Amino acid sequence: SLYRVPSINEGTSIFGIIGNPVLHSMSPGIHNPIFAEKGLDAVYIPFCVDSLEEFFSVADRLNIKGVSVTIPHKQAVIPFLDSCADVVSAVGACNTVVRRGSSWWGTNTDVYGFWSPLEDVLSVSTLASGRRATVIGAGGAARSVVYALVKNGFDVLILNRTVEKAASLAADFSCEYAALDESSCALISSYRSVIVQTTSLGMGNNCVNPLAFYDLQGDEICYDIVYIPKMTPFLSFAEKKGCRIITGDLMLKAQAIEQSRLFCELV
Ligand code: ATR
Repeated sequence: SLYRVPSINEGTSIFGIIGNPVLHSMSPGIHNPIFAEKGLDAVYIPFCVDSLEEFFSVADRLNIKGVSVTIPHKQAVIPFLDSCADVVSAVGACNTVVRRGSSWWGTNTDVYGFWSPLEDVLSVSTLASGRRATVIGAGGAARSVVYALVKNGFDVLILNRTVEKAASLAADFSCEYAALDESSCALISSYRSVIVQTTSLGMGNNCVNPLAFYDLQGDEICYDIVYIPKMTPFLSFAEKKGCRIITGDLMLKAQAIEQSRLFCELV
């Protein structure tokens, strides 16, 4: 979408995204139009950052009021915070940093962003196996997903190629875990109300469906948090089987709207 870049002066509040890479980030295209719509004197800029130390020393001298945090800094940014929301400690990742007075406060809107579109679907769906969900993957993204599900009363099964990583995530949140292969099919069918794909296998040009070995019944809610491409092989397969699907762009939008609410309060 097109938006007019405002004239920037000393009173303009500066926000941005820090990470590497950031040049193809969709976030400026989400945040700048919101600022413009609200008539706020604020701008959102992509900052390609390798050293968080350097960034925060510059941020203190500029009028930077808040940033989105992306790969590879979501964990590493935590020691730079003066305080944070409980969710940051529980998930071990921070994707939003805002200035509060002279200090930096962090939170994680990925958790809300993941839950919000799912909550919408749950309000109009019957659950195939009760509040029971399977999460594919055990990396950083899976951690936010498992946290949101458990907090909202789900029993969760975690599947991962490297079983040790599934076991370790499962131990942190009192979940069940298993290998990401045919040996887990019976277990999956008892945790199939919601199935969430969080691995990078579904991402980019060479993506594949990591659950290809499992025969979906059609009564599952299938959610892929990958947003490029929007229709991942996992979701195409699920849709063909008649499942309700949730695409990753909905999570991206929901987390950005929540983040924008925090940013706009500071302008
Ligand atoms: P993120 O923060 O995006 O979750 P991550 O922490 O690197 O990234 O986690 C990547 C996830 O994708 C892991 O669950 C990883 O499985 P392993 O723990 O076995 O590495 C999963 N993944 C990546 N490539 C995969 C592949 N080729 N097959 C199966 N799982 C894969």
